[in-house]
Amino acid sequence: MPRKLVVGNWKMNGSCAANRALVADLRKAGVDAAADVAVCVPFPYLQQVGELLAGSAIRLGAQNVSAFEAGAHTGEVSCAMLREFDCHFVIVGHSERRVMQRETSVEVAHKAAAALAAGLVPIVCVGETLAERETGKVEAVLQSQLDALGGALTADALARVVIAYEPVWAIGTGVAATPAQVQAVLGFVRDWLEQRAVAANVPVLYGGSVKPDSAQELFGLPGCDGGLIGGASLVAADFVSICEAARLS
Ligand code: PGA
Repeated sequence: MPRKLVVGNWKMNGSCAANRALVADLRKAGVDAAADVAVCVPFPYLQQVGELLAGSAIRLGAQNVSAFEAGAHTGEVSCAMLREFDCHFVIVGHSERRVMQRETSVEVAHKAAAALAAGLVPIVCVGETLAERETGKVEAVLQSQLDALGGALTADALARVVIAYEPVWAIGTGVAATPAQVQAVLGFVRDWLEQRAVAANVPVLYGGSVKPDSAQELFGLPGCDGGLIGGASLVAADFVSICEAARLS
């Protein structure tokens, strides 16, 4: 059975001292023996965390990237810059950016395409709000988010992405989606990928309030290849337990 992928999304958290302590704890626990593990850190810490991870199999990622190559885009960071800091992954389309920075699915798809062209692996986040779930729109929302991606990527490129299903209402709330809810959406995503003949290659993760006590059941669901972990990725003991749950699931 392939190893699960567990990705920490530190969001806008961390400090040089806290990063040092957290990475030291993850290395000491050997999380990379339990699963494929990555941490997606704020831009200013890419160099520091990259150096702290040297010699371990824990991979480095960023949390956003520009779809543009270079030039007059004040405050933005390019794919080539991320590559210079040995990033492997970049999260695109996190719901916090879709909501707060008003990123559209088309922009997210262009970011994913730029990332792939630069040799990065985009972790493309999709998911519905509570209002959309309560009004029966889950599949329509996912379909439109995924179709935008399909519209911007060739089948070859699509085969190299990671998809993270993150219901907006489960992020940072302490209320994870139920296994039945997750399974239903993962099935929908798999069907969408299958229609494009790339389902076998694309890891599909779940994210949203994954904790040590819920991780094993969620990761063990059919078609679940691991998780995107926010709050719990900042607490070494929790992230270590979640990686261990990935090994057991
Ligand atoms: P959470 O965040 O685990 O804190 O809910 C997940 C995410 O936003 O990726």
